[in-house]
Amino acid sequence: MKKLMFLGLTLFSTSILLGKYMPDWESIDSRPTPEWFQDAKFGIFIHWGLYSVPAWGPTETESIYDKYAEWYWYKLMDQTSPVNEQFVEFHQKNYGKDARYQDFASQFRAELFRPKDWAKLFKQAGAQYVVLTSKHHEGYCLWPSEQSWNWNAMDVGPHRDLAGDLSDAVKAEGLHMGFYYSLYEWFNPQYLNDVNRYVDQHMLPQMKDLVQRYEPDIVWTDGEWDHASDTWRSKEFLAWLYNESPVKDSVVVNDRWGNDTRGKHGGFYTTEYDLVHDKEVTGGMDHPWEECRGIGTSFGYNRNEDLSNYSSSTELIHLLIDKVSKGGNLLLNVGPTADGRIPVIMQQRLSDVGDWLKINGEAIYGTRKWDSDAVAGDSQVSFTRKGNDLYLFNTDPNQTEVFVSGVNPKSLELLGSSEEIDWIVVEGKVRITIPNFPSERLPCSHAWVFILRQAF
Ligand code: GLC
Repeated sequence: MKKLMFLGLTLFSTSILLGKYMPDWESIDSRPTPEWFQDAKFGIFIHWGLYSVPAWGPTETESIYDKYAEWYWYKLMDQTSPVNEQFVEFHQKNYGKDARYQDFASQFRAELFRPKDWAKLFKQAGAQYVVLTSKHHEGYCLWPSEQSWNWNAMDVGPHRDLAGDLSDAVKAEGLHMGFYYSLYEWFNPQYLNDVNRYVDQHMLPQMKDLVQRYEPDIVWTDGEWDHASDTWRSKEFLAWLYNESPVKDSVVVNDRWGNDTRGKHGGFYTTEYDLVHDKEVTGGMDHPWEECRGIGTSFGYNRNEDLSNYSSSTELIHLLIDKVSKGGNLLLNVGPTADGRIPVIMQQRLSDVGDWLKINGEAIYGTRKWDSDAVAGDSQVSFTRKGNDLYLFNTDPNQTEVFVSGVNPKSLELLGSSEEIDWIVVEGKVRITIPNFPSERLPCSHAWVFILRQAF
């Protein structure tokens, strides 16, 4: 016993001496979030799983959560809300009364999945990182997980390590790879009967396996709301991740580690369709943060959506500007089909964002927020900052002038253009005349960026 105590004490003091992280929030939160994440600004989220087979959800509901096609199985089983009846109706009509969700596994084939093409598309979109659902709440794994025997992509369905193949391709393009992982599993009997055993024998081994096999730079957990972080043993896992794992120096994690952690603990905080737990979040936060949402109104592919449910390229670019100028990242979701295609409309949106970033990327990547009271017409304009340089985003093609205070300008240019831009300091404020160029003299569409270099 004494020996054990001695060993415990030695281990404890060695980890303090080595500056290692302890399994408590104070220690874990003291680890600085690796800078690469805040510099990256734009990532691609991928929701892909058995729900991509029915790929269906209602589009006319009040709550955004009711539109999520990746919740198909749960909605089929849970008949407490009238919205869910629509799922049952759709399911029985199209697959028959006896069809079980589990039967979708054999139809999830990924026969057209070309990971290198996906990775190229993401790179061309200007994304710096990718986050794939390694396992959503259904429990089906996209990698050959020993703990999910016969409920993973190697054993049933595509018979392929989807997560590993994508991870290799994404890294080969020079992007950071990350995994989404759902802590809970809706219908796993072990989880439902004995959560502690589930955490010990299923969840933690899976999470460690993912990290050790693929060395991801992001661990993006979710499905944490049923239990506190103590039950999930999140602090223990994070101490291991930060102290011992092969990605201890580069890895970044989110804030979904238990029903006591969102917006409080973790490397970056998350919002989803501008919501945190149903509450709308306006403005930025001081801690690193990331907004995620789909190009449409669902994360999993929803065949029931039409063009009106999709954000336009202009809207997406404005969204990116909005989040980045408030100090956040944007994790924009695509929902691939069961056969492994990224729907062409999503590709088109990504390619437009990429074209815009090719011209204006220096105003996005590696920047930090700059709060200002600058005014253009009736609207507020947004900024980012890099050193002494300020980037001003104009999203309104009818804007005529902008007033900015609290700056000391040396020069002003329109990014991607060599045209002269008129500016003058009037009563301590810079007045910028927004040029009314015809489109062929503009460097891009959607939004225009001015770089204001300061004399310091
Ligand atoms: C949620 C949902 C979900 C989606 C996600 C993305 O909490 O349950 O389906 O994966 O968050 O942020």
